[in-house]
Amino acid sequence: MRVVVLGAAAGGGFPQWNSHAPACRRARRGDRAARPATQASLAVSLDGEAWVLLNASPDLRQQIEATPQLQPREGLRSSPIAAVALTGGDVDAIAGLLTLRERHPFTIYATRRIHAVLDVNPIFEVLARDLVVRRPIALGEAVTVAEAADGRRLAIEFFAVPGKVPLYLERPGEPPPIIEGEETIGIAVGDGQRRLCFVPGCAAMTEALARRLTGADAVFFDGTLWTDDEMIRAGLGTKTGGRMGHMSVDGPAGTLAAFSALDIGRKILIHINNSNPVLLSDSPERAIVEAAGWDVAHDGMEVTL
Ligand code: MLT
Ligand code: MN
Repeated sequence: MRVVVLGAAAGGGFPQWNSHAPACRRARRGDRAARPATQASLAVSLDGEAWVLLNASPDLRQQIEATPQLQPREGLRSSPIAAVALTGGDVDAIAGLLTLRERHPFTIYATRRIHAVLDVNPIFEVLARDLVVRRPIALGEAVTVAEAADGRRLAIEFFAVPGKVPLYLERPGEPPPIIEGEETIGIAVGDGQRRLCFVPGCAAMTEALARRLTGADAVFFDGTLWTDDEMIRAGLGTKTGGRMGHMSVDGPAGTLAAFSALDIGRKILIHINNSNPVLLSDSPERAIVEAAGWDVAHDGMEVTL
């Protein structure tokens, strides 16, 4: 299985368009330790022919132009992108669907709940329904999304993770509850031999999630924030990570602690907010995550499983 990280950053990207915070200023100045990153997405393929995108970020057009594997190879109009699977309905997961208009046939895999969000928003009708199939998947249902010439199959399965409704569906004035259902999911991708899990947003580790991740050859996991209150302390916002549906990397209930006893091949942080110092390759926090056996995803990173 081949994996390309199309984008490593959380919603907003790095640098974020309206951020003048120190890290974003470093990224804009071309500081080599503050490498820019687009919004989180993976491309996965069995054989390098057909590719399945895990989330379609607002930066998808730029990501395709930066990724030769995803560019047209034949005819006058074509694309190796065969499908998009969605982990939720947030802008950073779905806005790139609009980039995929222009009458290219592909399949959108999402939970019924997230399809309902797309269905009620007429802007997504730019994806002509005679060409773009909207396929609902139930939690735990394995679906073949690609087949290689030699008969090998790439299958995906959705699993619930603790999360919340998309930001734009929150009710004003009340913090959204953390729920485990069809709003925020993780995606397991398997080729019969290897298994990858993609969980760009997760509010907490649960026993069921720990069981699901155990034994995976690679897990790309929510690296949004280093500490729960980092955006407040940096003067960048008023929300904690918990309020945004993201567990932190550090701390007793954080990602490093939650994964320390899990048997997983490669552990890779993704969906990293521009306030998280792990984005800076010269930060003490980057050294801590690497010492704990983690990699930090970067745009263009390739992983072969
Ligand atoms: C998140 O992951 O918390 C969301 O992407 C926030 C957003 O939509 O900006
Ligand atoms: Mn996000």
